[in-house]
Amino acid sequence: PNIAAISVNFDLGAGRRGASHGPKAIMEAGLFHELQQLGYTIDHAADLRLPNDTAAPLDAQIDSHNLKYFAEVIEINTQLADQVSRVVGQGAFPLIIGGDHSIAIGTIGGLSSHYANLGVIWIDAHSDLNTPDTSPSGNIHGMSLAVSMGIGHPLLTDIKGKNPKVKPEHIVLIGARSLDEGEKKLIRSLGIKCFTMYDIDRKGMAHVMQEAIDYLQNKTDGVHLSYDVDSVDPIEAPGTGTAVKGGLHFREAHLAVEMLHEAGIVTSAEFVEVNPLLDDSNKTSQLAVSLISSLFGEQIL
Ligand code: ARG
Ligand code: MN
Ligand code: MN
Ligand code: MN
Repeated sequence: PNIAAISVNFDLGAGRRGASHGPKAIMEAGLFHELQQLGYTIDHAADLRLPNDTAAPLDAQIDSHNLKYFAEVIEINTQLADQVSRVVGQGAFPLIIGGDHSIAIGTIGGLSSHYANLGVIWIDAHSDLNTPDTSPSGNIHGMSLAVSMGIGHPLLTDIKGKNPKVKPEHIVLIGARSLDEGEKKLIRSLGIKCFTMYDIDRKGMAHVMQEAIDYLQNKTDGVHLSYDVDSVDPIEAPGTGTAVKGGLHFREAHLAVEMLHEAGIVTSAEFVEVNPLLDDSNKTSQLAVSLISSLFGEQIL
């Protein structure tokens, strides 16, 4: 089995700088070595970054209201979508290493033309379902899932592939505990399957993951895992820009990916929002390596 790693050194979709250093820190924590030990061939297919301060200025006519670093987000995601589509075409498993969560736009954009019914498992403290009208921050990493459903600025929703790239009934949110009012409305009105921290406490992670797998298994032809490390409790994952207490414990975070490996449904994955500038030693990067290893079959025994 061949994995195509795509690193995305980008943080302008987030409210604070530093997630652009995520890929380097995760690789230095031994990602490729761990995957090779599991028997995979891993190719570093692309290493994306924008040259400093050279994003093409947006036409003054274009409304970029409440969309911070709009031109840069469009540029990096257009490049990312091309790379993701290319490696899927080669038959490799795309593993995207972020970077802030705005890069899900490019990842899902690149995947979308290859699947009739792409499923998305979004493990996150947030839902990233804002629009420029509902976003409290203007940070595009809080809008990427809405964009993937075709909701948001047309210059974002039109990036590569299809629009919409994913249907609301093919999305599962896991770990949510910080939702803005507009996001709650959207989840309810579109009927998006959402397992909040309350549900995880009530039912247990094993039950929640089985429900998520059963929900997507028969109606999708591929499942993308979008894993925001801020889903994990800040005790285990301090190195992230929008940490929220009350998150997944270390084992819950691993069980989710262990069960996904067992189910064999995941066809692409991205790990985002590791910010080494905010980390405690390299703890959050090491956690990311450990989660990725579990997704690819690392077992305790
Ligand atoms: N909901 C907040 C916002 O829209 C926070 C989003 C955080 N997103 C993330 N990918 N960490 O600004
Ligand atoms: Mn090992
Ligand atoms: Mn997120
Ligand atoms: Mn988040």
